[in-house]
Amino acid sequence: MYTSIIAGLGHYVPDNVMTNEDLSKIMDTSDEWITERTGIKERRWIDPKTDDSPSTMGTKAAKMAIANAGLVADDIDFIIFATLSPDYYFPGPGVMVQDQLGIKEIGALDVRNQCSGFVYSLSIADQFIKTGMYKNILVIGAENHSGGLEKSDRGRGVTVIFGDGAGAAVVQRCEDADRGILSTHLHSEGKHAEELALIGPNTGRWVPEIIEENDAEDSSYYPHMNGNFVFKHAVTRFMEVIGEALMANNKKSEDIDLLVPHQANLRISQFVQAKMKLSDNQVYNNIMRYGNTTAASIPIAMSEAFQEGKIKQGDLICLAAFGSGFTWASALIKW
Ligand code: UT7
Repeated sequence: MYTSIIAGLGHYVPDNVMTNEDLSKIMDTSDEWITERTGIKERRWIDPKTDDSPSTMGTKAAKMAIANAGLVADDIDFIIFATLSPDYYFPGPGVMVQDQLGIKEIGALDVRNQCSGFVYSLSIADQFIKTGMYKNILVIGAENHSGGLEKSDRGRGVTVIFGDGAGAAVVQRCEDADRGILSTHLHSEGKHAEELALIGPNTGRWVPEIIEENDAEDSSYYPHMNGNFVFKHAVTRFMEVIGEALMANNKKSEDIDLLVPHQANLRISQFVQAKMKLSDNQVYNNIMRYGNTTAASIPIAMSEAFQEGKIKQGDLICLAAFGSGFTWASALIKW
């Protein structure tokens, strides 16, 4: 009987820092509004003059995770890549990472589950490890949001929140039954698909049609978010799915050493923390520095928390995410 441990973590963010002050120069917003509503002070946005992309950033994060696991790239036997902002419409960035790492012709899978993409990917990796199929799986979450955001007053409700970056984990086979991913919990509610979505272009309305329509009012090719609606669902689903993970393992909130929530909004994390009566030391947040990096947010946060000594062997770590789909998910890990 195998278990799956996280043997190494890594992250990479673009050098280019965009502060709230910087944003207020290109749209009608302010540091005060962004800080009060979201907790974000700055985020990283790719400088188009660099070669940063979801695949190249993912590869950099992966190299760090592989080194931290004490492995070399050829030890990896499967790649799972979660993103909503792939380099290309197709193929997905998983195969690009295989090429950029220069490794043998292993399988590469792309996951389209937005903010909960990393937890979904971790769950897939866990199943492949537990069946005995693979030993070392690279799980990556990476996003280039800045390239597709509407940088104007009309887009400000969405644009100020999102940042770019990548995080990665090596999920490894372990024979110690007391360690590893204890359980994962995955959910979706597709009736709310359009509440947080980028609708066009799509397979029913291709780019040439959009160009031909030339409609200045059309914002369908920018991300749309019904902020209040998403916020209300997020707090409910975060609570539910964390509770589900605890109940499945006969644990209580006080048993959690560190909750690493998807960094959607500091107010959401603080609400969950207060409701679950968790101390500041039990919850990790870095949204202040990176904004919401969707599929990359949990692995970036875990990698930083690990570097800061906030995740240690024997700790009970809870991951939880909610986002577009809607999809939501959690994982409970005995480190
Ligand atoms: O990661 C995936 C999951 N995503 C989330 O969980 C995000 C959930 N939602 C949120 O985090 C919040 O809804 C937001 C941060 C997006 C928005 O905060 P809010 O408190 O819900 O603000 P609002 O959308 O109700 O807007 C309040 C006001 C509006 O003005 P009026 O109508 O009251 O005059 C907006 O036009 O704030 C205005 N506003 C802004 N003002 C300055 C919206 N965006 C901005 C902005 N700067 N960037």
